[in-house]
Parts: sequence; structure tokens; C-alpha cells
Amino acid sequence: MRGWMGKFRSLLLFSALTLFLAGCGQENLSALKPEGYGAELLLDLMLISIAIMVFVFVIVMAIYFFVLVRYREKKGQEDFVPKQTEGNHTLEVIWTVIPIILLLVLAVPTVQATFDLADQSSQDEEGVLTVEVTGNQYWWHFNYEGQEIATSQELYIPVGERVYLDMKASDVIHSFWVPAIAGKMDTNPGENINTMYLEAYEEGVYWGHCAELCGPSHSLMDFRVVAVSPDKFEQWKEDMQNVDPEAEPETASAKEGQELFNNNCMSCHAIGGASAGVGPNLTNFGNRNKIAGILEPSKENLVDWIVHPDEIKPGNKMPANIVNKEEASKIADYLMGLKHTDVGTELDSVNKPKNDQ
Ligand code: CUA
Repeated sequence: MRGWMGKFRSLLLFSALTLFLAGCGQENLSALKPEGYGAELLLDLMLISIAIMVFVFVIVMAIYFFVLVRYREKKGQEDFVPKQTEGNHTLEVIWTVIPIILLLVLAVPTVQATFDLADQSSQDEEGVLTVEVTGNQYWWHFNYEGQEIATSQELYIPVGERVYLDMKASDVIHSFWVPAIAGKMDTNPGENINTMYLEAYEEGVYWGHCAELCGPSHSLMDFRVVAVSPDKFEQWKEDMQNVDPEAEPETASAKEGQELFNNNCMSCHAIGGASAGVGPNLTNFGNRNKIAGILEPSKENLVDWIVHPDEIKPGNKMPANIVNKEEASKIADYLMGLKHTDVGTELDSVNKPKNDQ
């Protein structure tokens, strides 16, 4: 009796846990609430396969329970052997043809979607944007081909247009994944460039994750896709192309921070331009949705990050203790003041799930 109760209790616990965890989704990180072309295609495929699975499950269970009830041993008929059937032609045709039909229903849209998602026919057309994406331990670099623009951690795209991504990695394999807009694609080190496209339906800040185990901070390798209207995107491009990396900050502390930054950090980082750099490009850093992809954008967090990046993202390549806390505070003042464009900042609140606005 006890064992039975125990089993029942763990079943109850797991059911409750399933319900609880099912609530963990975030709208801007959900493949089930598509806001882009690729994500919509993929959701359709998921729904078709789930429908087929449910159909098969229901039919098999119905036959199972029918047989269980109909042919159970009855009192007084313990020795009864029911009629044995072998080689029933009709039955065999039925259970061969039905799975073939089901597989076709699944295969046709799957193959169609596979070719659709791999379609690169418009990439070389005039005015079509290509962004070179590089996955690094543990951050993302975005270089806008032919635009003299580079960003890190935040990829700006125009709504309603197909933006192509040519993807590679600088160290190990990563995987670029923005579930609400598109599927995912591996980024490989070496010459192998993978290409996919993004096409967002609505303005918003969409969350992205690295989806390939790439080291101790893999789970912290987050990024954002900021989708803005085509007009705003043109404005953003103009703002980003006109960044003056030498521009003097307003406060004394930020000025000192700029000097400290130029002396200690510029060998890896960059501000403005299309430079790839060893470390993230920090243009427009003051308007970023997150620090290092994961921290709330506060000065306190930035100082912690500058002094001890190893404690926040274990295994990342930014050295610790390059500057002391006091110097880091000045650098933070400088970086938080880097607001080169306000396009997309009105979407900050979308950074939280949309329902929380
Ligand atoms: Cu990069 Cu996981």
C-alpha cells in the first residue's frame, strides 16, 4: 500500500512540476508565439506533427482498450481460445497505407519548409542586407556588410524585410537562435559559412540564446534582436555611420573614463566603425538592453563586470582586475554615456515579456 502511495505522490509531484515549468516561457523567447516568418513555418510543422501523433495515439489506445475489455478471460471460459487470424489481407493493407499517408502529410510540408528556410535567392539583390555574424565565447558580433557598421550583442534589423546572416565562429561551435523570429543555425569555426535569414513581422526586442554547448558560460551567451520599422532602421544606420569615437563626454568623471578606456580597453574593444576587434564593439553601449548580454544595465553591474568578468561569465576572455574599482567606475560613466542613437530605445520595455508592459 505504501509503495503505491509513494508512486502516486511522485506522479502528482511530476505533474505539478510539468504545469509549473510550462509557465516559464517568455513571449519574446517563445517558438510558440512566432513573430517572424521562419518561426511561423516551424510552428506549423510542430502543430502538424503533434496532430499526427495525437491521432495515432488515440487510435492505438482505442484498439488497445477494446481488445483489453473484449477479450479478457471470463469466468467459466478459462480454457476458451478465441479464433486465431493469420494473413488478413484487408487489415495488412490498412495498416500499411495509413502510415504511408501520415508520413506523406508530414513529409511534404517539412521538405517544403526546409527548402524555404534555406532559400538564399534574394541575398544578392540590390538593397538586401547581409550581416556577418560571429559567435565568440561568450558574445556575438554583428558586422553589417558594406555599411561600415558593427555591433555586438544587439542585432538591429528592419521589420518586414529579409535580412541574411552569414554565420561563423571564432573559437568553438555556437548556435544562433532567436526562437520568436526564426529557427536556429550553427556557427562553425573555419571557412564554413552557414547562411540563414531573419524576417520579423513586428517591432520589438526579441531574445536570443546560444543553443550549442560551448563552454562554462554557454547558458549566459544571450543576445537581442531589435526589430524596427524600415524608416527607423535607415535612421539607425545613419546614426551608427556617423559615430565619432573621439567625441568628448560631458562629465569630468566620464572624460577620465574615456582616457582610461582608451589606454586599457581599446586594444580589444572598438567604438564606431566596422572593426571586428577581439572583444565586443561598444558603440551605443549606453542604450543597450543588457550588459554582457545578461546583466541589467546599471552602473553598479557594469563596474562589477569590468573588475570581475570571470565571476559573472566564467571562462570568458576579458581579463579581470585590469583596472581597480574606482577606475572602473569612471569607465562605467563613460560607457553608460555612449548613446549614439535612440532608435529602438522606445522598445526597451519590450525587453520584458510584452504582457508585463
Ligand atoms: Cu555559445 Cu553556447
